[in-house]
Order: sequence, then structure tokens, then C-alpha cells
Amino acid sequence: MSTLTEATLLPRKADLTTASNALARAGQTWFIVAATGQLIFAWYMAALYGLSALRGDWETWNKVMPRGWNAGDTVGNIAIFVHLLLALVVTLAGLAQLLPAVRRAAPSVHRWIGRVYIASAFGIAFGSMYLMWVRGAVGDFSQHLGSTFNAILLVLFAVIALRHARARNLALHRQWALRLFMVMNGVWFFRLGLLLWLMIHQQPVGFDPKTFTGPFLTFLVYAQTLLPLAALELYFRAQRSDVAARKWSAAAVIAVLALATAGGVVGATMGLWLPRL
Ligand code: HEM
Repeated sequence: MSTLTEATLLPRKADLTTASNALARAGQTWFIVAATGQLIFAWYMAALYGLSALRGDWETWNKVMPRGWNAGDTVGNIAIFVHLLLALVVTLAGLAQLLPAVRRAAPSVHRWIGRVYIASAFGIAFGSMYLMWVRGAVGDFSQHLGSTFNAILLVLFAVIALRHARARNLALHRQWALRLFMVMNGVWFFRLGLLLWLMIHQQPVGFDPKTFTGPFLTFLVYAQTLLPLAALELYFRAQRSDVAARKWSAAAVIAVLALATAGGVVGATMGLWLPRL
């Protein structure tokens, strides 16, 4: 009897291991693609805004941002300066936090970068609300609400991830830190989504490029937060599942998302970032 049970259980266990490995590989592939795209984004921010700031050439900022640097608007200028500095910090720090080697070899470095990341999440969330609602930014009310939703989740997830870290609930801390990472990259996903859409249609569809408003952009501003969170949830559930088919289907979805991310990175690099440098 026991041999029979073993005979049926062993192949099932082997299937589950193969499916778990496939899921892990799909997750790693997505992360490598995303990390490459985020390093390009970080390089763009440093090369465009960082280098021109070091030269004192603030006019360059206005070539890209409608309300970049305005003589006389000291508070607004400080807000956008801090926003861009924190954007660079979180992009690089987020990647460092997810590298297992850093966590294993230097846990204290992980903790320090984590504190900087959480503080930056607050800075970006509150600062961007000032930039958008007080100083004024492109887009309509529906888009501003979508960005506000993103900012609220940034603060909420930062607090939850920090609380679990302090309580040493490391499994929960990992989950919430990954959710925070996804939400923090919402604006990056927006740029990828927009350029992927433009590459597919070869022209602006579903929005007016002059006013930067329209149904597609309203959809995208919510999707930038909700789609990556949904994909992450799928990944978590598949990791916990003991059904091989569930792991395989999640791995397939994540592999497709890795391809879409790669397409978006190529589009954003060629269509947005490189031409501005
Ligand atoms: C709720 C979150 C956020 C909101 C509402 C927001 C809002 C804004 C606003 C209003 C501007 C100025 C645009 C203008 O006046 O033309 C801006 C610029 C910018 N933000 Fe954010 N931001 C957010 C998060 C982030 C994050 C997390 C990053 C990067 C990690 C980031 C990167 C940038 C960059 C690079 C620019 C300059 C425009 C460009 O070169 O693409 N932002 N943001």
C-alpha cells in the first residue's frame, strides 16, 4: 500500500518541483528585464537632469517638463528638484533591495537602504501631490485622481512593509516590500505602457497628444498601479499553490509580461529617453 502511495506521490512531487522552478525562472526573467529598463531610466534621469543641474543649466529641464524650472517659484523649483533626486534614489535603491546577495552578505546595508527607500516613498508621495495639485501638471482630473491613488498606496505599503520588518515577520515584509516596489514603479510602467501602445498603433489612439488627455491615458494611470499588483498577486498565489498546473499557467503569464516589459523598455528608451539626451 505504502509503495503504491509513494509511486503516485513521487511523480506528483517531481511535477511540482519542475513547475516551481519554471515559476521561479519566469519571475527572475521578468526581474532581469525590469532591472535593465530601470537602470536605463536611472541613467536617463542622471544624464539629463543631474548633469544639467550640475552645470546650472535649468533651461534644459523645461525642454521636457512643461513646468520644470520657473524663475521666482522657489518652492516649486525645490519640490521638482527633490522629486527628481528621490526618483533617482528609489530607482537604484529598489533594485539593490531586491538582490538576494546584498540581503545575505550585508543585512545592515539592506536595512539602511530600506530606511532611505521608505523615507523617499513619503517624500515622493507628498512632494508629487504638491507638484500635481498645487503647482499644476499635465493631464485631467481623472488622471490626477489615479496618480493620487498611487501616492496613497505608496505611503500605505511603505508603512506596512516597515512594520513587518520591525516585527521580524520576514515573509510578510517581503510580500509588502515587493508590493511597494511595484507601486513605486507605477510611473515607470506608465511610460512603458504608453510607448508600447504607440509602437502597436504607430499613432496616438485613445488620447489627444496635445492635451495629454483621453480614455486610454485615464485607463493607463490606474493600470500602472493595479496591473503590476495583480501580476504580483498571481505570482504569490502560484508560489503558495500545490497544483502544478497553476504554477505553470502563472509562469506562462509572467513570461508574456516579461516580453511586454521588454517591448516597453525598448519603446521608452528609443522613443522617450534617448531622444531627450
Ligand atoms: C504618485 C506618484 C508620482 C506623481 C503624482 C508624480 C508627478 C510628477 C509631476 C507632476 C512631475 C512634473 C511634470 C511637469 O511639470 O511637467 C513629475 C516629473 C517626473 N517624475 Fe514624477 N511623480 C510620481 C512618482 C515618480 C516616481 C516614483 C518616479 C521615479 C522613480 C518619478 C519620476 C519622474 C521624472 C523622471 C520626472 C520628469 C519627467 C520625465 O523626464 O519623464 N515620479 N512627476
